[in-house]
Amino acid sequence: MSQSTTGHVVNGHNSSVNGVSHVEKFNIEDIPELKIPPRVLMGAGPSASYPEALRAMSSTTLGHLDPEFLAIMGNVGAMLRRVFKTQNPITGAVPTTGTGGMEAALCNLIEPGDEVLCVVYGYFSNRMKQMAERMGAVVSVVEGPWGTVVPIEKVKEALDKIKNPKLVTVVHAETSTGILHPVQEIVKLAHERGALAVVDTVTSLGGCPVYVDDWECDAVFSGTQKCIGAPPGLSPITFNARAMDRIRNRKVPVQSWYLDMSLVETYWGDSSAGGRAYHYTAPSNALFGLHEALRMTLLEGVENRWARHEMHSRAFTAGTEVLGLLPYAQEGHRLWQLATMYIPEGIDDLAVRTRLLREYNIEISAGLGSAKGKIWRVGIMGYSANRSNIFLLLGALETILGDMGHNLEKGAASEAANAIYHEYDNKKTSSSEAPIALEVDEEDAPPIGEAIPAESVAQGVAHRD
Ligand SMILES: Cc1ncc(COP(=O)(O)O)c(C=O)c1O
Repeated sequence: MSQSTTGHVVNGHNSSVNGVSHVEKFNIEDIPELKIPPRVLMGAGPSASYPEALRAMSSTTLGHLDPEFLAIMGNVGAMLRRVFKTQNPITGAVPTTGTGGMEAALCNLIEPGDEVLCVVYGYFSNRMKQMAERMGAVVSVVEGPWGTVVPIEKVKEALDKIKNPKLVTVVHAETSTGILHPVQEIVKLAHERGALAVVDTVTSLGGCPVYVDDWECDAVFSGTQKCIGAPPGLSPITFNARAMDRIRNRKVPVQSWYLDMSLVETYWGDSSAGGRAYHYTAPSNALFGLHEALRMTLLEGVENRWARHEMHSRAFTAGTEVLGLLPYAQEGHRLWQLATMYIPEGIDDLAVRTRLLREYNIEISAGLGSAKGKIWRVGIMGYSANRSNIFLLLGALETILGDMGHNLEKGAASEAANAIYHEYDNKKTSSSEAPIALEVDEEDAPPIGEAIPAESVAQGVAHRD
């Protein structure tokens, strides 16, 4: 039996004959305690988790009706409302990843035979379409080429062709392409036609402006592992009054008992109205982690956090452009939290990513679907979005690409990133304003980089700019 560098058994006595698997035989002494290697997570997700979140997750497990736990859940809901920028009472986190949040939003709002328009311009917007089809919806699709946004006129035309549209689905930040879609206009169009809008904010929440109430989004879901800074495993989700009204007045019950929001709300809802009823065992430790990630997010300030993502993204792309890595996503619609770039001619995708991981502990992501083998996707997300990670990755790319014969000027990428950081550093010393002119809530007022406890500097990986 051999072991990988992390001590995992790689050749156990695992056999299967004619599809029937036989009992594995192994010595429990041969399976070592887990020793997880350090990683700099700069792929499309997950990103690094706040140490505060990880520490909280190792606390004593609490029962799902323990008053202490209910208070924690209440705070998670309140903090999520602040991050989503909503007053929706039905705001919480379902015990699943982003895909499960997608499923929860769609299965509650779709009834068999409903006409649904899916705006599809990448891998995840296509996943919404597939789910709607499985749920028995009559699905129309308005499509745009990968790497671009779908023009609003096309969405309007597609909606006009549908007799009685019930729902429009859209991904705000398409992680397969690096595109930020103008969601607000689509939601407005949906409402004009009497449809509701479901918005995927898995990659956008916490990393760029998301205004659930101002944009009047009806159901919005996200993930914990991208710009929020907690491990994967929960999906923050929020439903407005219109959406809850639709759910409560369904003709047929939601097919999923587990994700039925009319049942979930008896556990999440207002405890003063007769207490909370058990629906499923809440994953208390996962919620502790989300609690801490949200607390850190709000200590930094939601708007400051968006500004931090923009700053590190600008620095990184200044560097990659100097390295000759051409951007993939349409100009003017590029995400801050996910840079996508073409792999240069003659450069071996897998060889680069393998060296990054083996020699630098850095994870970046390959292309998905039609972009597989053509692009790299680099996450600048949440706790991973910091100056030292940007310089580490630019330096590593420069070395590896240089070794592979790519034409580049040594040191120029870091210089280009540095020039961007200097812009911000100079602004910081010459004025007390936040570096980017963004609307700042009074409660979220601390200037960028301040109000972060020193303990939040992770082992070996600096945290903030
Ligand atoms: C935009 C978007 N939606 C949905 C998902 C699915 O989330 P998960 O992988 O957490 O299930 C992802 C994951 O990368 C995503 O980026």
